[in-house]
Amino acid sequence: MPETWWRGAAIYQVYPRSFADGNGDGVGDLAGLRTRLDHLADLGIDAIWLNPWYPSPMADGGYDVADYRDIEPVFGTLAEAEALIAEAHERGIRIIVDVVPNHTSVASAWFKAALAAGPGSPERARFWFRPGVAGGPPNDWRSIFGGPAWTQVPDGEWYLHLFAPEQPDFNWTHPDVRVDFLDVLRFWFDRGVDGIRIDSAAVLVKDPDAEPDGLDPYTDRDGCHDIYREWRRLTDTYPDRMLVGEVWLPDAERLARYLRPDELHTVFNFPFLGAPWNAPALRAVIDDTFTALGDAPATWVLSNHDVTRPVTRYGRPDTSFDHADRKHGMATDPSLGLRRARAAALLALALPGSVYIYQGEELGLPEVEDLPDEVLQDPIWTRSGHTDRGRDGCRVPLPWSGTSPPFGFGTGTPWLPQPPEWKTLTVEAQSTDPDSMLSLYRTALHLRRTHLGDGTLTWHDTHPDVLSFTRDTGLTCVTNLSPTPVPLPTGTLLLSSSPLPHNLLPPDTTAWLL
Ligand code: NOJ
Repeated sequence: MPETWWRGAAIYQVYPRSFADGNGDGVGDLAGLRTRLDHLADLGIDAIWLNPWYPSPMADGGYDVADYRDIEPVFGTLAEAEALIAEAHERGIRIIVDVVPNHTSVASAWFKAALAAGPGSPERARFWFRPGVAGGPPNDWRSIFGGPAWTQVPDGEWYLHLFAPEQPDFNWTHPDVRVDFLDVLRFWFDRGVDGIRIDSAAVLVKDPDAEPDGLDPYTDRDGCHDIYREWRRLTDTYPDRMLVGEVWLPDAERLARYLRPDELHTVFNFPFLGAPWNAPALRAVIDDTFTALGDAPATWVLSNHDVTRPVTRYGRPDTSFDHADRKHGMATDPSLGLRRARAAALLALALPGSVYIYQGEELGLPEVEDLPDEVLQDPIWTRSGHTDRGRDGCRVPLPWSGTSPPFGFGTGTPWLPQPPEWKTLTVEAQSTDPDSMLSLYRTALHLRRTHLGDGTLTWHDTHPDVLSFTRDTGLTCVTNLSPTPVPLPTGTLLLSSSPLPHNLLPPDTTAWLL
């Protein structure tokens, strides 16, 4: 692949706890992942993004990092991580790791030192420790997971955590923090990782003492850009490495500021992920993406470890996604959802840019909405006062083989229970079925290598509920979101997400033609 591999790559997201368990403890690990690399190579992906793999008390699925330069023992060792990077590279697969700069873990050495050193100490200055006001927290900020964003420690001070109390926020005005993260980046680049996914990238800079200035006090503050310019300068000292930001901002122009030539290489396209299954809405997001990004490459994302699985979402009467309301339990039509998820996959894979595939998306896994209360681990469940069931439903361990749990995930009991119905969704069952979701992804990813990825598109004038474009390579992608079949464009059919009776494109179907 060319130097700018990330412009058109198909990137597969591995949630290590739920991918494959190599040692039988019911939790996925690096040993499990290493045995499945051939499967991923065969699938046709170009890179893997791994969710955090660092030592962590797992208060937030590993996003509470206790040590940025080591591997969580439940997942394996640093030597295994190095072996994994080498083995992936041997197969032509690049590795992207997740760096979490906004917050750390209460179990980190710095936070423990800050607690021990007491109020006014230099150790506390690396975090946001403040005295309370009138017996309460320093201000009224709310945690993104629910509840107050401040927690009091025994000596009376409060510390800031935009997420769970186990995730204290760093003070990014402190030079130690800046220096240490540059060192963390170097640590992983020196071990051969090809990219860094930056967690919660737009909330690093905050000023709890600022007078209201009309801006959000902790989202998208200008200081974030200085940090990423520094990170980019460092990244550019290594060949062929990339930075991808997790930037949730509704304003496309503000989002594009993170993609200026001296900042991040790419950001996740969350407006696309959140868009309903509706042609004008999708067309608007696609057009806005290109307008806002300018020369920066687009990314196309249908799901990740934080959002409702597409098969479930697209089968609901409301097909949009919004963190504020996950629509948990809203009635869903699974066969309609699957049909649309297949069509959406071919649409996303055809668009110019890179594409992210969250593990299990290629199997058409639904959201597991009936996990028993007692197994839920997402802090959103407790922090919301048990009103939001959180994200565990999209994190259930993958089904690999066999006809009953644990479906070849490992030999132990999986850390979240798998539905018995998943026997038809295993990799084994789908591998031999040419009509399965897995076969669709495999074929599409291999065709994508030749005909798609980075480049441009030209829209065709069509019915407003049909999305039709031709890529610079000559491939035409057409998606019918109308309720009736429509004629196919001219060309030789390469692939379709559903059968095409009478040579027409039925509703909720995408076809690729050349
Ligand atoms: C975004 C991550 O994707 C999510 O899983 C995590 O809970 C928050 N950032 C906090 O780190």
